[in-house]
Amino acid sequence: MQVYADNAATTKMSKTAIDAMLPYFDTVYGNPSSLHTPGQKAKEALEDARATVAKCLGCEPREIIFTSGGSEADNQAIRSAARLGARKGKKHIISTAFEHHAVLHTLERLEEEGFEVTLLDVHENGLVTAQQVKEAIRPDTCLVTIMYANNEIGTIQPIAEIGAVCKEAGVPFHTDAVQAAGHLPIDVKKEHIDLLSLSAHKFHGPKGVGALYVRRGFPLTNLIEGGAQERGKRAGTENLPGIRGMAAALAESCANMEANAQKVTAMRDRLIQGLRQIPHSAVNGDLEHRLPGNVSFCFEGIEGESLLLLLDAQGVAASSGSACTSGSLDPSHVLLAIGRVHDVAHGSLRLSLCEYNTEEEVDHILEVVPQVVQYLRNMSPVWRDLQTGKRQYIL
Ligand SMILES: Cc1ncc(COP(=O)(O)O)c(C=O)c1O
Repeated sequence: MQVYADNAATTKMSKTAIDAMLPYFDTVYGNPSSLHTPGQKAKEALEDARATVAKCLGCEPREIIFTSGGSEADNQAIRSAARLGARKGKKHIISTAFEHHAVLHTLERLEEEGFEVTLLDVHENGLVTAQQVKEAIRPDTCLVTIMYANNEIGTIQPIAEIGAVCKEAGVPFHTDAVQAAGHLPIDVKKEHIDLLSLSAHKFHGPKGVGALYVRRGFPLTNLIEGGAQERGKRAGTENLPGIRGMAAALAESCANMEANAQKVTAMRDRLIQGLRQIPHSAVNGDLEHRLPGNVSFCFEGIEGESLLLLLDAQGVAASSGSACTSGSLDPSHVLLAIGRVHDVAHGSLRLSLCEYNTEEEVDHILEVVPQVVQYLRNMSPVWRDLQTGKRQYIL
């Protein structure tokens, strides 16, 4: 049996999204900037997609800018707020230690350019509070950027409360909603969000396309200079097939959100209950404020990478929190941020489900994960030391 349980990394495209893209390759293929009829038909399709995306977020179409994905949207949002702040002499930014690298690396670049960044501590349960944000805001704060839901441990932040705190303090609020869009109800107005990033391939749309919501009146900075597309804020001929696919996928995900969440949450909870039976294991992140499809565990005494490879051999495609960078194995910054020690963070597993997964697939995962964990533990010197008392168990 082949089980794809890595939907936080990317999803398969829905049939609806694929069908929505096809006419824009060879039928409506005009350039939306062209004045002739084929161009104007493409322009209409572009604006129709913008309206669809806007409706799903509760904003106006003109507040949506299409991008090449979540990373670009994050970069543009953060750089825009930083530039605006710098013009007013405000160079302090608040974020968290467990953001995606699209945010963290952008903030590192800004630190090199003279900005000061406060990374809020994340609680053990994977949440930050609006009170923490309130206490960190200073007169020179020009941006708060906090992710809607975490990609590794699935925790959902109190976005509306954080938005309200930012609004009261007059500080722009950006949220990376790449893992949330299409999976959780979002209302940018009610949640007081000024800037929001999303990415199509996380909700059964195509890769390489995303969107940035920008509250009306907020001055955006261009990352890409050139033509006047996207109201002059993002140059380059629009990826119309991708944008049509994204809009169709988002509309479909939003229309089916409740039913999908119900189905996926039930599978998630069965997996969590089952995997908890493995001794010396722990669930990462809050059980209540959690994305419907996220299952994240640490297993003591094993390496996440080996676990992944053996699971792959058993037909289960999953992910680990660790990232193998240039030959050295770094434990995930997310797991370290919630207080997992290095040894434990190395033995992590993320299974991320979607509505295309089945109960039979959950059964298969529940059968193979305990076997593979035991197999790896049997040959692990660390596990031997734990069992003989040379080392103390942490979990
Ligand atoms: C939370 C989060 N932000 C940003 C990104 C980057 O999105 P993209 O792959 O569209 O650039 C991802 C992708 O994994 C993500 O999970």
